Amino acid sequence: MKILVLGGSKFLGRAYVVDALARGHQVTTFNRGVSGADLDHVEAVRGDRTRPEDLERLVDGRRWDAVVDTSGQQPYDVAQTARLLRGRAGHYSFVSSVHAFADWPARPVDESSRTLDCPADTPQDQPFATALKAGCERALLEQFGEHSSVLNCGLLYGPHEPIGRLPWWLERIARGGRVLAPGDPARPMQLIDARDFAAFGLDLIDQGLTGRFVTTAPIGRTTYGDFLDACVRATGSDAELVWTDDATLLAAQVEPWSELPLWAPDTPDWQGAWRADSAKAVAAGLRCRPVAETARDTWAWLRNGGSAKVTYTQGLTGVPIGIEAEKEQRILAG
Ligand SMILES: NC(=O)c1ccc[n+]([C@@H]2O[C@H](COP(=O)([O-])OP(=O)(O)OC[C@H]3O[C@@H](n4cnc5c(N)ncnc54)[C@H](OP(=O)(O)O)[C@@H]3O)[C@@H](O)[C@H]2O)c1
Repeated sequence: MKILVLGGSKFLGRAYVVDALARGHQVTTFNRGVSGADLDHVEAVRGDRTRPEDLERLVDGRRWDAVVDTSGQQPYDVAQTARLLRGRAGHYSFVSSVHAFADWPARPVDESSRTLDCPADTPQDQPFATALKAGCERALLEQFGEHSSVLNCGLLYGPHEPIGRLPWWLERIARGGRVLAPGDPARPMQLIDARDFAAFGLDLIDQGLTGRFVTTAPIGRTTYGDFLDACVRATGSDAELVWTDDATLLAAQVEPWSELPLWAPDTPDWQGAWRADSAKAVAAGLRCRPVAETARDTWAWLRNGGSAKVTYTQGLTGVPIGIEAEKEQRILAG
């Protein structure tokens, strides 16, 4: 097949490209050449998806069986690409987020959950807001209808992760000593390796399956204990995990999700964080590798020069990733 990846040079899009090439597909990528290098063997078209003239250059004489959109963050931009690609591509697969659901992370969600209010014709260049993904979904559906798929992505991790959540934990645990571990080791979490996400997205395209899929690991697939133990094993560290209850961390003003990356306390605001129901995706073939494999591969990537930006300031809390060493020690000292 001929596949166009809008993006394709950083993390998830990159994983799509690797897998699509391995399946023997022909891949075109479209990006500005800012975030990373394109992989060998792709047709790399340079351009900015916010610029109509660049998009015209992309579609010039080309057709694709499927489009994978990993870079769409603004409804206006998705509307523009979908309008242009209608009639030039058979299937348009958009990577959305569980953020698009009104109830996430406070309550469980599935494919029938209400998405946030954000119209398809939202003007361009909006400041970051979780609702924008819902507007992107609407913009796509208006243009591609039943020939589209929307993948509501859960928490992605794995090699090339740019945000730095798993990388922060690996690097902190590799430094060893007593490590502040959040909440309850038995508390479930749901993480999806970007490579597993991409494989599932491509399987849908290969099989011609469309529609909405909550795409993340099955509920209860892993626990915080499994996750941090995997980091200890991957790094070969002598770190001692000091599990510290939610109340103590909240009293010390530790910011959930960011300051101790991925910590979702057992409070009303976070009850749904790890309860996005991906049963439909699992029934359609989603497979998730063990957390130990992702931790091992991500550590190998970091050791071989990979780096994540650990000061991510957008997103759910706006707080940089990772707790300061002094604050961690203060809490550990009680
Ligand atoms: N990380 C998570 O846990 C999580 C959770 C839920 C959903 N998601 C979603 O998953 C997706 C992750 O994708 P990714 O960032 O890893 O994909 P990616 O395709 O590997 O990287 C993003 C690509 O978009 C390109 N890009 C950015 N702005 C562009 C522009 N104006 N014009 C053309 N290309 C542009 C970048 O290249 P240049 O900068 O060189 O142009 C880069 O190739 C995102 O849609 C994200 O919202 C992630």
